[in-house]
Amino acid sequence: MKKFVFLITVVVLAYSCNQRTADSEIDRFINELMSQMSIQEKIGQLNLITPGADIPTGATVSTDVEEKIKNGQVGGIFGISGPPERIRQTQEMAVNDSRLGIPLLFGLDVIHGYKTVFPIPIGLSCSWDMELIEETARIAAREATADGINWNYSPMIDVSREPRWGRVAEGGGEDPYLNSEIARAMVRGYQQDDLASSYTMMSTAKHFALYGAPEGGRDYNTVDMSRTRMFNIYMPPFKAAIEEGVGCIMTAFNDVEGVPATGNRWLLTNILREKWDFDGFVISDYTSVNEMVDHGIGDLQAVSALALKAGLDMDMVGEAFLTTLEKSLEEGIIIEAYIDNACRNVLRAKYRLGLFDDPYRYIDETLPGKEILTAENLHAARDAAARSFVLLKNKGNILPLDKNQSIALIGPLAYEKSNMMGTWVVSADRQMSVPVLEGMKNVAGEEINIRYAKGANIHDDPDFAEKVNVFGPRIVIDERSPEVMLREAVGIASNADVIVAVIGEASEMSGESSSRSDISLPESQKKLVRALAGTGKPLVLVMMSGRPLTMEEEYELADAILFVWHPGIEAGNAIADVLYGYYNPSGKLTMSFPRNAGQIPVYYNHRSTGRPQEGDEFVKFRSNYLDVPNSPLFPFGYGLSYTTFDYTNLKLNKDVMKPDEEITLFVTVTNTGDLDGEEVVQLYIHDVIRTITQPVKKLKGFEKVFLKAGESKEISFTITVNDLAFYDNDVNFKAEPGEFIVFAGTSSDDVASVSFTLQEKWPDQ
Ligand code: BGC
Repeated sequence: MKKFVFLITVVVLAYSCNQRTADSEIDRFINELMSQMSIQEKIGQLNLITPGADIPTGATVSTDVEEKIKNGQVGGIFGISGPPERIRQTQEMAVNDSRLGIPLLFGLDVIHGYKTVFPIPIGLSCSWDMELIEETARIAAREATADGINWNYSPMIDVSREPRWGRVAEGGGEDPYLNSEIARAMVRGYQQDDLASSYTMMSTAKHFALYGAPEGGRDYNTVDMSRTRMFNIYMPPFKAAIEEGVGCIMTAFNDVEGVPATGNRWLLTNILREKWDFDGFVISDYTSVNEMVDHGIGDLQAVSALALKAGLDMDMVGEAFLTTLEKSLEEGIIIEAYIDNACRNVLRAKYRLGLFDDPYRYIDETLPGKEILTAENLHAARDAAARSFVLLKNKGNILPLDKNQSIALIGPLAYEKSNMMGTWVVSADRQMSVPVLEGMKNVAGEEINIRYAKGANIHDDPDFAEKVNVFGPRIVIDERSPEVMLREAVGIASNADVIVAVIGEASEMSGESSSRSDISLPESQKKLVRALAGTGKPLVLVMMSGRPLTMEEEYELADAILFVWHPGIEAGNAIADVLYGYYNPSGKLTMSFPRNAGQIPVYYNHRSTGRPQEGDEFVKFRSNYLDVPNSPLFPFGYGLSYTTFDYTNLKLNKDVMKPDEEITLFVTVTNTGDLDGEEVVQLYIHDVIRTITQPVKKLKGFEKVFLKAGESKEISFTITVNDLAFYDNDVNFKAEPGEFIVFAGTSSDDVASVSFTLQEKWPDQ
């Protein structure tokens, strides 16, 4: 066996072990290898198993792992997170003890950092800072690869307009353009331009497709939508990830047009391979092949054959391929070419990762000490967190705080560690999180006058707490009664200059399998906010959450609101940096915040109806509600700063554009306040008259700009015909001639506009 590995190494070296090795050379290598593989060994490559030592995300974990590896029945392992010795031992089993010595992939969910935990993805997206997002992914890759991981199940690029769906925490919000830019940044961060480097890992874009649109916001639920919506809204981030060279795509649990995504040939072959030229490999989601049985598509043998024929290459955990494909082959339900194709796709990924050159490429026992949780990484996490916060209100400029003010720090999330990191923390130690109380003292000095009281439980209901606490205590119900806690908090608050209340969701109140029908604060915390407001003291809310919350009452009662999502390992320090003005907040929402759950879905890029409503006043026979305005509480793109910005001189360089030309928009942005700050300048386009109805606005560009107090800068955006095009009902991407309105401004609902005309159709039809 070892001889074989040596032989392979020689063969690889003889060609080139460079990532950019011509495809034909990779193919020749793989053909040579596959010519020696039995059908069982080929099927083995399609099998991903988990020993279940860490957190499984489904009910099933694999058995007889060691024996299967040695028998060549495993293509990859997932769920082992370091130390490298563990991965080395497992890799040795595959390389030394299996007949052909084919190395394993080691996959893991490294969603927002590995041990250095960054803000949850929706928080990061609110930075609108692609360099920052890329850097967080690059650091995550360096840390995870130091522990031996070579394959990551990130980014999740599911566009979502569904705040009831808990997994909005893991994505970049409601907009296809922004999600596409984030997809590119994250793929670059994880893979860099050299997949075979021992500091990069293969990225997986997930969940293909439409997972972000479950009916009722209930995780794993049915999805149904038109093709124009799919292609204009939900698909673009996947296309972008593929253009950026993503190595792997994960299928979704849901069905698409009635066929589960995992067995959907139209999705996995016609779109992915034929339309978008994807040449990586496709992994199922956790047991999603098996779950096609519950979808009512057939028995395990039938659904496995269907998934393979559809274009699925690897089966996550369910072992449906392993246990049925051979039989299906014998019975003529599938032909060997399907197995070969899938096997080839998996082997190609291993080749690109450099594993045939050196199966231990990612395993270096000296690296964890050098790469993981370094001072630089923690600094980056603190900076990223501060940049992800969104200032929603700041009445009378109550923020930033003054160090001389006495503070009442109140709330169930003010002095604890288990929720700061947010959902999807597989490898990190939650106890390393910096609580807010500590952060306030770190930043303002031990001597600050600060008193703390919990004030309320995150939730008072033990049954609810039990559902949230599946991975450990997130909601800890105090032994004291709610009344006693509240009294203590009010007492402290009444004697302080300012109240800072840190409230919101526990980390597992969002994330996978954490949908909510009511997305407001739990009653225990609503009562706390009311009582604190009742003291008449200035009230600052620091709100943590994995999703937009409905919070009209809290918005009225508070003087200032800083929305911090779940900020990661440096939570407390970053919050204090912003509260004390060491960082001037610059985050902008990437999901609209509904006024109440009945408004859902509410999103900025909706199409116009035939009876549109102007403004928020109710008008009979217009599309509106009797009991709530149409507008959200906070729109997409909204976020304040400690300074103010003005937009002037909006102009285009011409009035008419031809499809082969570009048009440039200029706008001058001025920092009109007293503090330096950053602004996210947003560009939207509306296509005025088309053959199919168009969104009232579509984000088509943004730039984050730093301006000193009083400084002005002219910002320019280049618009090409691609920015004007849309998918029609036949899925043709085209731009139609006519008028376009271009908007620039500080938020989707606060923009100035100019217009121009596109002269001809594109493409020529
Ligand atoms: C999730 C995926 C994840 C996988 C492996 C599934 O339940 O949907 O996003 O990558 O588990 O942990």
